[in-house]
Amino acid sequence: MNSELSAADVSDRDIQLDPARLPAHVAIIMDGNGRWARQRLLNRVLGHEKGADTVRAIVTASREIGISTLTLYAFSTENWQRSVLEVSALMSLLKKFLESEKPVMMANDIRLNAIGQIERLPDDVQNVLRAVMQATAENQGMRLNLALSYGGRAEIVRMARTIAEKAISGVLEPSSITENTIVDYLYTHDIPDPDLLIRTSGEMRISNFLLWQIAYSELYFTSTLWPDFSKEEYVNILKAYQQRERRFGAA
Ligand code: FPP
Repeated sequence: MNSELSAADVSDRDIQLDPARLPAHVAIIMDGNGRWARQRLLNRVLGHEKGADTVRAIVTASREIGISTLTLYAFSTENWQRSVLEVSALMSLLKKFLESEKPVMMANDIRLNAIGQIERLPDDVQNVLRAVMQATAENQGMRLNLALSYGGRAEIVRMARTIAEKAISGVLEPSSITENTIVDYLYTHDIPDPDLLIRTSGEMRISNFLLWQIAYSELYFTSTLWPDFSKEEYVNILKAYQQRERRFGAA
């Protein structure tokens, strides 16, 4: 896919996105699948299925618009506490998504990456995940980063343990630890911090997502439930982002 061509498509529809001021990294807390289903007297799993369709649409839209990295909060460490039925439905949806989207990722030059406690996922999901990550490793058009069994605090604990072990074994001098050292031991060590964080469904919380990384991210909350989230609303949020002045703590 040619991102310049697609940027032209976007302006054709009278959407004035400035390609020079796009967020390089967009992170999304996809929330509201359960409520979407409940409003329709449907099983929650059907909400997740509809949510997976939105994932496909927003991944494609991000690639077309020219976003370099898209991080999606697909499964949190807390989500393991949901019913066995819901967890297994989410895992099989994830596996299905990875299998069906592999050719799409290849065709669109998208590289898949995962952050979180991948080792906690069922073996069959881990196998597909690793296979797609390997197959797409050389793709350069966009990075799709799935947060799976991810928790921001667990990520920080993991980083602290690794750094403590290195300090004890003498590889790392405690006085030499800087912010860059911390970054080196986060899951996201090779990914820039999100410029924009979007949360759907009207909740105004961060819910343990990318706690270190969102220090200076622009936050955008929409009441739209994730299954109803559209490319049109996404573009409007990107336009709102472009109106904001980012100061990174400077006056
Ligand atoms: C929140 O809805 C969403 C999740 C728990 C996970 C997100 C999962 C998907 C979008 C579907 C599958 C993902 C992929 C990558 C194929 P919720 O159940 O918390 O909604 P509620 O707050 O309304 O109950």
